[in-house]
Amino acid sequence: MNKKTYFDEKAAKWDTLIQDEVIIRLQDMVKELVLSPGCKVLDLGTGTGVLIPMLIEAVGPSGVVVGIDFAPQMLAEAQKKYQWPNLEFLEGVAEDIPMADQSVDEVVCNSAFPHFDDFSLAAQEMARVLKRGGRVFVIHPHSREYINELHVSLGGAVRNCLIPEEAAMRAIFYEAGFESITLEDVAGRYHLSARKA
Ligand SMILES: C[S@@+](CC[C@H](N)C(=O)[O-])C[C@H]1O[C@@H](n2cnc3c(N)ncnc32)[C@H](O)[C@@H]1O
Repeated sequence: MNKKTYFDEKAAKWDTLIQDEVIIRLQDMVKELVLSPGCKVLDLGTGTGVLIPMLIEAVGPSGVVVGIDFAPQMLAEAQKKYQWPNLEFLEGVAEDIPMADQSVDEVVCNSAFPHFDDFSLAAQEMARVLKRGGRVFVIHPHSREYINELHVSLGGAVRNCLIPEEAAMRAIFYEAGFESITLEDVAGRYHLSARKA
């Protein structure tokens, strides 16, 4: 089974798999991003839109949130739950983001990066759609070790979806044109941030 089919088949039950404590952790993590009211944020690999209400609250009514995912059933679940005039969902792949150059202020990628087929291309695409000085955040409400062990134990389509080690992650984003790269990887939290040079 390919990854798109894997996520489409999981879509209807996806939200029941996420514990309340994880949502609370994500709310804290999104607050820490200090997104500016009025900015335009891309939620890359939005899935069923777990992050959407948090992002909408952060950017306020004058901001814009765009959720992109390659699995139509995941997007359909997100669209059923969330409709705001400043929210848009697009079907597309991280390696070929369906947005114009320099059109967003921030890119947030929660629990999706290790699923992308080509990490370098995805990072280059994030850099392309970001304005100069814009930031990217690759986050997980768990450590790298936890996520990688989970994916190996789940097997099948996600068994090889592993977060690279720190040096490799830094190199991927540096080579894609980012600077000020920070990475925190502790129990209950993985957070890479970088700024487009
Ligand atoms: C583990 S889910 C996380 C979804 C959501 N961000 C969340 O926090 O619940 C990963 C998501 O990434 C999407 N995805 C995987 N590879 C992708 C790609 N190459 N381009 C776009 N979306 C992708 C999947 O369809 C899935 O919805």
